[in-house]
Amino acid sequence: MQYASILDRLSGLGGAKWEIHRRARQMKSEGRAVIELTIGEPDVPCPESLMQRAASAMFDGRIGYSNGQGEPGLTRALAHRYSTRRGRHFGPENILCFPGTQTTLYAVLTGLCEAGTEVLVGDPMYATYEGLIRASGARPVPVPLRPERGFRLDPADLAAAVTPQSRVILLNTPHNPTGAVLSRADIAAIGEIARAHDLWIVSDEVYEDLVFPGVSFTSPLDLPDLADRSVACASISKSHAAPGFRSGWCVGSAEFCARLLPLSETMLFGNQPFIADMTAQAVSAPSEVAPGMVARFSARASLIHDRLHGNAGLRVHAPEAGMFALVDIRETGCSGAAFAASLLEAEGVATMPGESFGTALTGWLRLALSQPDALVAEGCTRIARHAATLRHRAA
Ligand SMILES: Cc1ncc(COP(=O)(O)O)c(C=O)c1O
Repeated sequence: MQYASILDRLSGLGGAKWEIHRRARQMKSEGRAVIELTIGEPDVPCPESLMQRAASAMFDGRIGYSNGQGEPGLTRALAHRYSTRRGRHFGPENILCFPGTQTTLYAVLTGLCEAGTEVLVGDPMYATYEGLIRASGARPVPVPLRPERGFRLDPADLAAAVTPQSRVILLNTPHNPTGAVLSRADIAAIGEIARAHDLWIVSDEVYEDLVFPGVSFTSPLDLPDLADRSVACASISKSHAAPGFRSGWCVGSAEFCARLLPLSETMLFGNQPFIADMTAQAVSAPSEVAPGMVARFSARASLIHDRLHGNAGLRVHAPEAGMFALVDIRETGCSGAAFAASLLEAEGVATMPGESFGTALTGWLRLALSQPDALVAEGCTRIARHAATLRHRAA
């Protein structure tokens, strides 16, 4: 039987990156105690008030078909939120709703890219980005994100990677896995390049509400002169601890949204009205759960830094936002994949190899900040012990 080439482009981009996580879950199912620092999920349940809103809307009959743009109450609420946050006017015509940021990015990139085009994207990158770009037919062009620059995209590196085939700059701020937050000056310089080469800027802002104290967030939507070429994508998955509700959106120019609408209609035939009602409530007030996550995740990032930085040759990159910390294990002489695999077997600690997020993180580990403090502390003790053992063996 014959298959479409999209499946060839995506083959191998799925589960292989999550092998350690899969193995950890298998070990747990066999009764072994594993400290799981692999995936980052909100560490609290979705607020009850939001779940009640979804349930009551469902019982009130909000279970019919919707439309491809999004329920009017939600697009109005999002327009108000973005007008307030970005300091300029957005209307419902600037919004399209999708089931989560992932689907939003898929639709947006499908609407902007095709075979023969290139997407400029920071390396390391979120694990699904290569698949998202390749699904559209475009080619990912990785631009190295350097630890010396806090893993923030260097406009000079970006400019050097532009070709006549470039179509989109895919940003992720705050960034997974590095926790880097682009500054206003970074965005302005990236915007200059976008304007000079007539490129789109697609900005994945799913961690906007998890920025650590003292750090300020800037979206390309903040800069009016980038308005016609910027599209921001986000959801309530992180900000409201609601990943299973699959509720996200994009914000762009009215022309962009009108052009993308038929794709949304063709893909989805509309979202679920009861989830739209719950999302409208969520985005109309400050999140009840985000400040607590910020406090806990930033404290755990400091704990990891205190325990591991300079210990057994390890170095810790301090995140500015999000759910993860990065540990540089290159002094042990191992790759991230080899270290993570032997750490899981020897010490029962599951971490993500940096290589799962791109070549620039070869020899790094990503640790999730969403486990309780005591487990994170114990995980650090075991990681340091394992690093010391490997160094001793190598010496
Ligand atoms: C950077 C990034 N983008 C997108 C997603 C997917 O988010 P959503 O649940 O809104 O689809 C995640 C999930 O972890 C993520 O880390």
